[in-house]
Amino acid sequence: MELLRTASELHRFLAGARARGAVAFVPTMGYLHEGHVSLMREGKRRAATCVVSVFVNPTQFGPSEDLSRYPRDLVRDTAACEAAGVDALFLPEPGELYPPGAQSWVEVTEVSQGLCGERRPGHFRGVATVVAKLFALVRPDVALFGEKDWQQLQVIRALNRDLLFGIEVVGCPTVREADGLAMSSRNAYLSAEERQRALAINRGLGEAERLLAGGTRDATALCGAVREQLRAADIREDYVEVADGATLRPLSQVAAGQQARLLVAGFLGRTRLIDNAALQG
Ligand code: PAF
Repeated sequence: MELLRTASELHRFLAGARARGAVAFVPTMGYLHEGHVSLMREGKRRAATCVVSVFVNPTQFGPSEDLSRYPRDLVRDTAACEAAGVDALFLPEPGELYPPGAQSWVEVTEVSQGLCGERRPGHFRGVATVVAKLFALVRPDVALFGEKDWQQLQVIRALNRDLLFGIEVVGCPTVREADGLAMSSRNAYLSAEERQRALAINRGLGEAERLLAGGTRDATALCGAVREQLRAADIREDYVEVADGATLRPLSQVAAGQQARLLVAGFLGRTRLIDNAALQG
């Protein structure tokens, strides 16, 4: 596996790689877990070459968020990429992606609204900007993202379409621990007791899915099932919402045949976790 730190090293690597076939790309902020590894494996399945980036992007963190304490372990990340058969790991310094004087931003105006976009102002502007920069540098044939960050996935689909990148953007299913907790780098912040309480999020999603299967289509009732679990586990709700899976516009009912999504964000102490589930109408 090649370790690449600059855009010119990346370009040199890609010139050779493209001659061998398609290039898959998995952008990450590091502290890799099985969820990331599943994206790398899917990348390897779909393309001759898989490139992973690790870059903790400062512009997607708000002033009171966890940029300085975001977990980092480059030695472990390098080993995980190597074990997954990744061909190149791109490790840019901030100056490589944000040159001095940088003043250009990518804003995805509709799907960035509401949910995490509303609670974390500027977050998706930071995500869209860095992903557009990385897409421009890597120019992959296919890029892979986890469905756990459902709204982020819709933002990236929109920017790929609107800015004419022509990349195949693939969403991969959320990878869960054996007890159902969605894998996330931020799980590292949880104490043993908080981690146990965090299971209520997936339990709530499961309750709502069962209600829908039993014929309950009302969004207030479906969200209520999640809220009950959050309350019982003393998780502070950030949001619980039923939305259209593609546009993310809020729904009051899940109509027959509709591809809806139930999205949750909650705080355990200072740690904010998100999760979601498909609601197939
Ligand atoms: O999902 C993440 O890890 C980040 O938001 C991403 C897509 C790598 C952009 O920094």
